[in-house]
Amino acid sequence: MRDPTIEEMTRMTAGAAMWASHAVEDAGIPAFTMSDGPMGIASGKVDERDIARLSPCATALGASFDVYLVQRIGALVGGEAAARGVDAVLAPNLNLARSPLAGRAFEYFGEDPLHAGILGAAWIAGLQSTGTGSVAKHLVCNDSETERDTLDVRVDERTLREVYLLPFEFAARAGCVGMLAAYNRVNGDWCAEQHHILTDVVKGEWGYDGLVMSDWFGTHSTAPTLNAGLDLEMPGPARFLGFKADEAVAAGEVPASRVADAAGRIARGAKRVTGAKTQPYDDDAARELLVEGAAAGFVLLRNDGLLPLAPGKRIAVIGPNAAAPCFQGGTFAKISVSPDLPSPAQTIAARYGAENVTFEAGVDPAPRLPNMPVTPARDLGDGAERGMTLDYFASDDGSGEPLSSETRATNSLVWFVGVHDQGPFDKGGSVRASGIFTPEQSGPHRFYLGATGEARLTVDGATVVTTGATAAKDVMGKLKSGDAETGEVVLEAGKPVRIVADFTYAPARVHGLWYGVRGPDSREAMLARAEAAAREADAVLLFVGETSDSSVESKDRPDTALAPEQAELVARVVAANPRTAIVANIGHAFDASWARGAAALIAAWYPGEGFAQAIAEVLAGDREPGGRMPVSIAMEEGDYPAFDLKPGEGGRLPYDEGTRLGYRGLIANDTPARHPFGSGQGYTRFDWSDAAVEGGHVAVTVRNVGDRAGSEIVQVYRDTPEPTLVGFAKVELQPGEEARLSIALPARRFMLWGQGGWTPIGRTVNIRVARHAEDHGMPLTAAFDDLDDAAL
Ligand code: BGC
Repeated sequence: MRDPTIEEMTRMTAGAAMWASHAVEDAGIPAFTMSDGPMGIASGKVDERDIARLSPCATALGASFDVYLVQRIGALVGGEAAARGVDAVLAPNLNLARSPLAGRAFEYFGEDPLHAGILGAAWIAGLQSTGTGSVAKHLVCNDSETERDTLDVRVDERTLREVYLLPFEFAARAGCVGMLAAYNRVNGDWCAEQHHILTDVVKGEWGYDGLVMSDWFGTHSTAPTLNAGLDLEMPGPARFLGFKADEAVAAGEVPASRVADAAGRIARGAKRVTGAKTQPYDDDAARELLVEGAAAGFVLLRNDGLLPLAPGKRIAVIGPNAAAPCFQGGTFAKISVSPDLPSPAQTIAARYGAENVTFEAGVDPAPRLPNMPVTPARDLGDGAERGMTLDYFASDDGSGEPLSSETRATNSLVWFVGVHDQGPFDKGGSVRASGIFTPEQSGPHRFYLGATGEARLTVDGATVVTTGATAAKDVMGKLKSGDAETGEVVLEAGKPVRIVADFTYAPARVHGLWYGVRGPDSREAMLARAEAAAREADAVLLFVGETSDSSVESKDRPDTALAPEQAELVARVVAANPRTAIVANIGHAFDASWARGAAALIAAWYPGEGFAQAIAEVLAGDREPGGRMPVSIAMEEGDYPAFDLKPGEGGRLPYDEGTRLGYRGLIANDTPARHPFGSGQGYTRFDWSDAAVEGGHVAVTVRNVGDRAGSEIVQVYRDTPEPTLVGFAKVELQPGEEARLSIALPARRFMLWGQGGWTPIGRTVNIRVARHAEDHGMPLTAAFDDLDDAAL
């Protein structure tokens, strides 16, 4: 086999396509394929029918504090990649929940860098055990979304090293195949051009021998980028690197040795991830793991004894998220999940007996674009029992014979030329969607219609709503906002009507059509029914929270409040029946003041596809809620050490709180949290005893003194110069069982960055073994010289 030429090596520095690198076959260098992550295999999907497994979000995994569980979830995602021909996954996301407003906070493990580093490394180990490569992202300080393409994070070196780079240092040690450089700038330089970080720290000090690629379209230059240490520009075709770098290399602006280094890293990575792969989980095992994973991340924040709630009582299940749960966030890495995934309302009815359970949404579960619950107008022999029959025509008015037909069970259709070829989308034509809708209530029904062309919606032949052309380039934005025209028609309960949406499109690369219908229910009537249901029940299970477009890329949140109509629902339901357990289906730290009067509160995050099964089992006591807070919930928004994410002049966002983000700042500023980092309870109780420092470890005996099996999470903190997590361990114990836990205390966790190096805090180190960040716990002292100085 020959070596690649300098031209071939230069070519390798840019991707070949959206999700693939360049091969140099003669030199034995394969191309490798990539997919977005982290909650599953997201990219390259065709449409809503291309279903993949959806894991709990990283915040939920973070709440589990369970290294082994996170490793198994990583392996499950790796197996999915293998099944789909994907060689490397753009995950995990190792940025930190610095502010609860961050649009992608749900993708982060939490607010603590050690916790994110340990769990991130476990996920990487699991994923890579299948032969799939992990590309850890986004290096670095991409902890918010506002102006993310121009944002310039100003951060001091100590904070950078001890906080934001630490999870990536763990990832490097775990041997992740690649890292992805963030869109933003750090201290003035684009992350893709950050020589200090990429070359001095990551490749130099850490000795990282993997490859560093750009975030998608995140490059800005040729020579400065290659010289800073970026190896691969993504996606392809080349914009600044690849063949575009030939001249810079020929002119000596980029040393040939740098190109050879980059190509060598890419080649090594490509060979590593294109070998044999394994799929460790079959369907049943995967399903079970995703339920276990969801439950392990639920954090029981308060419980006056209501939970677990044994079956045999009259239960009111209330709230929008009981019917329309938020399984995941709305980033580009969104997974198409099965439309048959059960809702919590369904699994609770199954677990408690349908005759004992009533359900009321209380507020509209789809506040933007409502669903279109129809059955197909024609049976196409595809077994589909719901959705619209779609006919594609060459004519622009639905005349003539359809070119093709299919059933689609979604209320928002998107077509890309070259991906979806049912219609002549590159030429112009028409689509007709038809279905049968049976109203549940009598009264005025509001129909919604939006499209990237002219469209008309008829009900039993009468036109109810029309819409003009939307610029095709807006299709994603319009779809996301559910931007639609509406029209009303009075319908009778139980009497089916025929809905037809006719859509005429001009030639374009992307097209969309979306529709929905809202019944006659008034806001007040829904709230009043929920209140009545609460009053008549022995206990209430109330599900509130977000929709899948609440957490997105490129946008942060304005506040941490629950939607006002949901806050009103909570107040009215809790007043009607205080025996209410609230499940907050929210992917980040949230204002929890509204839960004060409730008997129990569970933070469920975005739990992935196992949500409904897991929550029914946890509420009934078949499983325990196994999590602890991976983020702090402050009393007031103003208490968060970092909150506002709007960059100032020059796009600068100063990380003024330094190392004191999250619980570290809340404690240092003497503003105790409403729910501290690390806090939460299960269904049993534990006694701790005999805490002692033993060599480079701290040991403690944990005994389950309750009457149920359960898990405990032991945390170790230091308090100098600020409270900092230095270790944790989780143990599961049967009633009466005890175990002696041993938690390693590596020396690095007691060193600070200063004057260009790591310096011990002192010859002796004070720690506390604690249940959460604000727990005084059991104080102990260790000698620094006894600690392991090889581990991180
Ligand atoms: C995101 C990355 C993602 C990439 C590819 C970017 O916009 O920031 O997290 O991996 O797109 O989809």
